[in-house]
Amino acid sequence: MYIRDIAQYEGKEIELKGWVANRRDSKGLVFINLRDGSGLVQCIADQSKLSETEFNNAGKLGLESAISVKGIVVKDERQIGGFELQVLSLHVYQFAEEYPIAKKEHGIDFLMDQRHLWLRSQRQWAIMRIRNTIIYSIHQYFQKEGFVQMDAPIFTGNACEGTSNLFETDFYGDPAYLSQSGQLYGEAMAMAFGKIYTFGPTFRAEKSKTRRHLSEFWMIEPEIAFCDIHQNMDIIESFLQFVIKQVLENCQAELKLIDRDTAILESSLEAFPRLTYDEAVAIIKGEKDVNGQNSIKSLEDELAAVNEQIIALESEITEREEKIAVPGMKKGEINFNQTKIVQLKQALKDAEETQRNIPQWLASAKNFEYGNDLGGSDETVITRLFDKPIMVYDWPHEVKAFYLKRNPEHPRFARGVDVLAPEGYGEIVGGGERETDEQMLRSKITEHDLPMEAFEWYLDLRKYGSVPHAGFGLGLERLVTWMCKLKHVRESIPFPRMYGRLLP
Ligand code: 4AD
Ligand code: MG
Repeated sequence: MYIRDIAQYEGKEIELKGWVANRRDSKGLVFINLRDGSGLVQCIADQSKLSETEFNNAGKLGLESAISVKGIVVKDERQIGGFELQVLSLHVYQFAEEYPIAKKEHGIDFLMDQRHLWLRSQRQWAIMRIRNTIIYSIHQYFQKEGFVQMDAPIFTGNACEGTSNLFETDFYGDPAYLSQSGQLYGEAMAMAFGKIYTFGPTFRAEKSKTRRHLSEFWMIEPEIAFCDIHQNMDIIESFLQFVIKQVLENCQAELKLIDRDTAILESSLEAFPRLTYDEAVAIIKGEKDVNGQNSIKSLEDELAAVNEQIIALESEITEREEKIAVPGMKKGEINFNQTKIVQLKQALKDAEETQRNIPQWLASAKNFEYGNDLGGSDETVITRLFDKPIMVYDWPHEVKAFYLKRNPEHPRFARGVDVLAPEGYGEIVGGGERETDEQMLRSKITEHDLPMEAFEWYLDLRKYGSVPHAGFGLGLERLVTWMCKLKHVRESIPFPRMYGRLLP
């Protein structure tokens, strides 16, 4: 029996097994918040209904102690989940040692060091369940559309996305690289099966700490034969909207738990704006408005607003701190103010971060040089103006991968497409139409300084039944991060691997 099914057992006796998420004692009663991985329920241990040993044990339970309880399910609207358990018997598997993660605020480094335990907390529980729904709906979408799931190798002999961030390893005495992308293999598999998708771990040595980069992440890479850039964008849009819809339908409780405002997810069910690189650059530089909003002007306005907000927050914090310092205030009132102060300080920290960031975003937008790739700040600037993901296509070919096809009418542009998530999040998908011309590919491989012999098998695909084809790669953690509105990608994966983090 699991807590998620508790409504089925109203009035009946059930047994639950789980961990103590909270304990509160009052005269003759012990209130235990029990979590079993599927949900959370309050269990009431009443001295008059338990043996003396059982009741004493209940009062000794520390956080994360493991127990099983038998009891009657009673409806109580005020409780989380709408039910509580009136305990009839209690068994202790283990009295936990003092749990390192307390209710008070902890710093992020401490929590990351405790990741193996932190995963048990409610917020992490909600995020991982949303991640699970996203993974499930990704498979649902492609399976219903007739794609075959196939796996690309992880040990590879060639780079796919440039040589700067390869992880090299030893393969029986020869160098091999951990896969940066399954795409090149995906193309071979698409020529065998029509449309396929891979779903696997991907590795990139990113020697800098950013809120968007992991060294190990999961990528979903569909590849479709007989598909051009525009059809590719249709598929990306319908795919992402399917996933968003599933999350909205199945994860309302989780989204609420993490305080995710779902308006942006709802508006993302409308068509995604499709912009050329040229249009995107004009928007970033403030030469073109979006829905009456100008990138530069809106950032300047926001900076002014945040400056005022900081002054207001600081004075409210001081006011409350002075108030509780005065003797004679009731305990309840002191607690209330202390909680408020913690919240205000967090809001102040966030505001100060925005205050530091905006000038950097402004500088990068104003100084953006046409022809460059979009950087993290540029993506932030443009996506803050939209309430849904946008697709940017037709990029200067010099800044994109060797395998992208050129726009036949404007060969300066490669037919790549990036999907940028709104609210400042930026790139979640990279993809495009593939070059089919063997000679063009050979010259690109040389231009990128890649070893031709490692790509001969790939070039074979252009000799035997070469067809227009396209595909894309979705970064799973980037999608989770945006959909859950996380501050940093490290919270979107159970055990992140990134620069400076290999444990736990
Ligand atoms: O844009 P990228 O590099 O594209 C490719 O690898 C193509 N071969 C995909 C294809 O067309 N089949 O990476 C695709 C996506 C990015 O948009 C981003 O979401 C994610 O992978 N990604 C990362 N996620 C987390 N940490 C990193 N270091 C990432 N690098 C890329
Ligand atoms: Mg990319």
